Amino acid sequence: MTEEISDPKILVNRREFINLTWLASLGFIFVDVGGVIYFFSMPRFKDGEFGGTFTVGKTSDLPSVGSAPTSYPKGKFWLANTDEGVKAIYKVCTHLGCLYNWSDQESKFICPCHGSQFQNDGSYIQGPAPRDLDSFIIQAVDPDSGEIIAESPATGAPLRLPEGQDVIIKVDTGTKITGNPHN
Ligand code: FES
Repeated sequence: MTEEISDPKILVNRREFINLTWLASLGFIFVDVGGVIYFFSMPRFKDGEFGGTFTVGKTSDLPSVGSAPTSYPKGKFWLANTDEGVKAIYKVCTHLGCLYNWSDQESKFICPCHGSQFQNDGSYIQGPAPRDLDSFIIQAVDPDSGEIIAESPATGAPLRLPEGQDVIIKVDTGTKITGNPHN
């Protein structure tokens, strides 16, 4: 037999309790959803760590066109200043993933594992590698406004830096461009 509740104060208190419980549940849901949105909207990697962005200097800091590429071990890329523009080349060989080296004597990249060779812009020359070396997006940033004024093409071609401007050069190691197959 169910017991009837006759005291109106108890009824009100129970309603309030249920309402508060609902509100608390909704609050928890909003906090959870907000936390997830905040987590995914934040950059996952800091500047200067692999997966994030590296500031490599300004146009005036670049080595001369055609000189040996500069190694950035933390970012796992080589920065090459070529006739066609600048390129940030991923240090991992496109054959089986060895770390290749730059040869000053032969002016090209040579992989010690199976002998694949690449030009200073990452283009395939010979060996078992199936494609050009992969690369990262380079951004040219206006030093005054902080705006990105040029970016590497999605084709992986080198970025031609704006002429007559000493722009800041950034490499985004979170955006890899797959090298073009040579066959
Ligand atoms: S891993 Fe570089 S040639 Fe095989």
